[in-house]
Amino acid sequence: MGRWTLDDIPWDRLDRSKIDGELVRLVKAASLVEYNGGAYAHHLCRIFDDDPEFQQSARRWGEEEVQHGKALARWAERADCEFDFDAAFRRFLAGYQVDFDCEISRRGSRSGEMIARCMVEVGTSSYYSVLRDAAQEPVLKEICRRIAADEIRHYKLFYKNLTRCLEREHVGFWRRLRVAAGRIVESEDDELAYAYYAANEMSEPYNRDRARRAYARRAYSLCRQHHVAHGIPLILKTVGLRPYGRLARPASRLAWELMRYRARRLAKADV
Ligand SMILES: [Fe+2]
Ligand SMILES: [Fe+2]
Repeated sequence: MGRWTLDDIPWDRLDRSKIDGELVRLVKAASLVEYNGGAYAHHLCRIFDDDPEFQQSARRWGEEEVQHGKALARWAERADCEFDFDAAFRRFLAGYQVDFDCEISRRGSRSGEMIARCMVEVGTSSYYSVLRDAAQEPVLKEICRRIAADEIRHYKLFYKNLTRCLEREHVGFWRRLRVAAGRIVESEDDELAYAYYAANEMSEPYNRDRARRAYARRAYSLCRQHHVAHGIPLILKTVGLRPYGRLARPASRLAWELMRYRARRLAKADV
């Protein structure tokens, strides 16, 4: 892990003429969530308190997430000179509070926690692929390319640990499916909505639904079928199904239809 640093990013190639204001807003929000990765790593170390080997991997993972936050923040500050990352991150922490010191996973088991982490990494890997493909600005494209690759490695780390956990815990298929689906639905929860608000919209009081819609409508409009298809085999594998079995194609088609439906509804909604 830790295969690249901020010095590997070609910052001097930043092309102001290709900066897209809509993408800047999404990148600012993503920088806050990523930079908070250290807190999640701490939570994982609490849950796996008797497993120093996994704790070490979790800490390295957290460092990589923090680095994602730093890279996105630096790009956003250069793209928008009014963006003050430190101030935005303080606002984010003040308004979005989760008990990261808790030693029990809210997914009910260690396996459940790993399933949820796998879902997050599938989602982020698809999301940074979306941003990479949407970005015309070459430095942002490069940052998103690197982050998307990291997120796939993170998925592999958590999937490997999930298989270890499942040797000791009995978590049946339906339970696995429920945790995975629950975490996917949560991707529209307060964390991203509040990050979007803290990074972009401080002139009005926080309105969760408004911030969630504002964020999701921009993000979903950039998503293409191949971005959705990319995550399906990984999701199937996480819940214990064959990644390229008979279900892969219909699941992929259904996920794409749901995404298009959400995107259409958000495009019509007042934000
Ligand atoms: Fe990340
Ligand atoms: Fe990640």
